[in-house]
Amino acid sequence: MDSIIQAAKLIIDSKRTFAFTGAGISVESGIPSYRGENGIWNNIDEKLFDLLYYLNNSQTVWPILLDIFFNPSNRYLPNTAHHILADWEERDLLEGIVTQNIDFLHQLAGNKIVHEFHGTTNSFICTSCKRIYNTSELTLSKVPPLCNNKKCSALLKPNFIFFGEGIPSNAYQKSQESTLNTDVFIVIGTSGEVSPANQIPIMAKQNGSMIIEINTKTSLYTDEITDVFLKGKASDTLQLINKKIKTLLTK
Ligand code: APR
Repeated sequence: MDSIIQAAKLIIDSKRTFAFTGAGISVESGIPSYRGENGIWNNIDEKLFDLLYYLNNSQTVWPILLDIFFNPSNRYLPNTAHHILADWEERDLLEGIVTQNIDFLHQLAGNKIVHEFHGTTNSFICTSCKRIYNTSELTLSKVPPLCNNKKCSALLKPNFIFFGEGIPSNAYQKSQESTLNTDVFIVIGTSGEVSPANQIPIMAKQNGSMIIEINTKTSLYTDEITDVFLKGKASDTLQLINKKIKTLLTK
């Protein structure tokens, strides 16, 4: 059976479907992935994103952070792939998303249940008093940003995890829970290279989920856990599945 039809039928018949997304789903929004051609890590030393290094060298790190993640001229927007996942949540075809991405694009597209496994660029945290700031509250004209609690004034850091930091416990727990009683896990745009995030689809498989994978090339999952592999861009492929779902549901 044609893989698109197979994927569409699995999603229609599924009582509980989750998506697991990586950088690949945001490439068509203009955000580079981390690995492969034009990968962020090809040009940036990962050391800059080590927590201790940041705490001691924030002046050095901030120009990179501004350029990659907080550049005011780069207002990234959700692409078609994000919008289709939001539409599926709206239509009860998708329960929620576990994302490795920190770009907040799933929420901007309208998804309500989004577990951000690696945190988010949408907020900052004070490295001392732990106060949370919404990124839109900060001007970032003066960096490194400091806590505006006068008794504190400590360094702020983006609320995504740096190397050497633990996974946000609530996101971790909710992501693990998402793998229970799920019939279908749609794995989109991830190399599957980074632990412990990469264990989530494996847990879903072990708990009985069918794995639909969408990627422009094979990943570490493809030959191991993937049941339906759809080679292609996230937006094109999700559009094809969405069209097929609509056809099958109107029959
Ligand atoms: N559509 C679908 N897949 C795509 C597209 C696209 N348009 N473009 C690229 N891809 C695929 C690539 O083939 C690759 O498998 O997306 C994947 C991106 O892989 P990575 O760059 O490794 O990103 P990701 O898997 O999300 O990395 C996980 O690594 O550095 C950490 O914290 C960072 O969350 C990130 C984690």
